[in-house]
Amino acid sequence: MTMNSPLWGAELDHIRLDSGNPGALAAFYRDAFAMADDSLDDGSRLLRGPDRRLIIGAGTAGEQPYSAFRFPDSGRLQAFKNHLTAQGVNLMPSPTPLFGQDAFAVADPDGRQMVFGLPSPAHQTGDSGPQGHPPGRLQHVVVATADLAPMMAFYEDTLSFVATDHVLRDEDDGSQTLTAIFYRSTPEHHSFAMFLSDAPRPDHHAYEVSCWNDIRDWADHMSDLHIKLWWGPGRHGPGNNLFFMVEDPDGYKVEISAELENMDDSAPTRQWPHTERSLNLWGPGWMRA
Ligand SMILES: [Fe+2]
Repeated sequence: MTMNSPLWGAELDHIRLDSGNPGALAAFYRDAFAMADDSLDDGSRLLRGPDRRLIIGAGTAGEQPYSAFRFPDSGRLQAFKNHLTAQGVNLMPSPTPLFGQDAFAVADPDGRQMVFGLPSPAHQTGDSGPQGHPPGRLQHVVVATADLAPMMAFYEDTLSFVATDHVLRDEDDGSQTLTAIFYRSTPEHHSFAMFLSDAPRPDHHAYEVSCWNDIRDWADHMSDLHIKLWWGPGRHGPGNNLFFMVEDPDGYKVEISAELENMDDSAPTRQWPHTERSLNLWGPGWMRA
């Protein structure tokens, strides 16, 4: 593994979801994704299971105000902080209670925050909730944006996410429009991605499982709860991962994924056509643009 990117090794630790009815949303994630539901000192809720956790708070339904990535150690976190400071990036206080004092946040061009830190001793990632379910490791988060260029400059040039795959739409005048970018910060195909859309909005987050049978078992679990699959099962082109998605009560999409590709940080960026088939090799695609 090479380590050309100062972000390399950072993994998605948790995200925050906002809701007009955070209690109901927390109950959904508690049941659908088998997580314990606890209250935090600031009034938000902590949902946690083995290798997965998220914060749910009061706010605008379906909003996802920040994504928090953890570094493997304090030296890597400090080196990344120095990398941003040297560029003159405005560092803000961390909004998450799950990270320690060294954590900080930066705002992307759409106003969403990316948080970087280490789990606080009071909230280690080894915390686990309900047992006896298939695995489901929080693995990636995706946003939609109306203007990819400044977002690319921020995520690629400033934060040093490594571009894995581009999706390109052929236009009538012979030009091509970039419609999606998948970014990695570890050998996994993407830990973050963004889609071109008509407006900036949250898109989805995903839990990675170990095999196809885990997808079956999660789908059966959703069925027991009368939660319909919203998309899939299918297999994405970029990432080659098996997947299905469900919708939470606020309309935000959540994915169960398996077999996500691995590559090192020197692998060249690949290109995919903007077609349904790229987004789902097995059937209909969710076309954001
Ligand atoms: Fe995904």
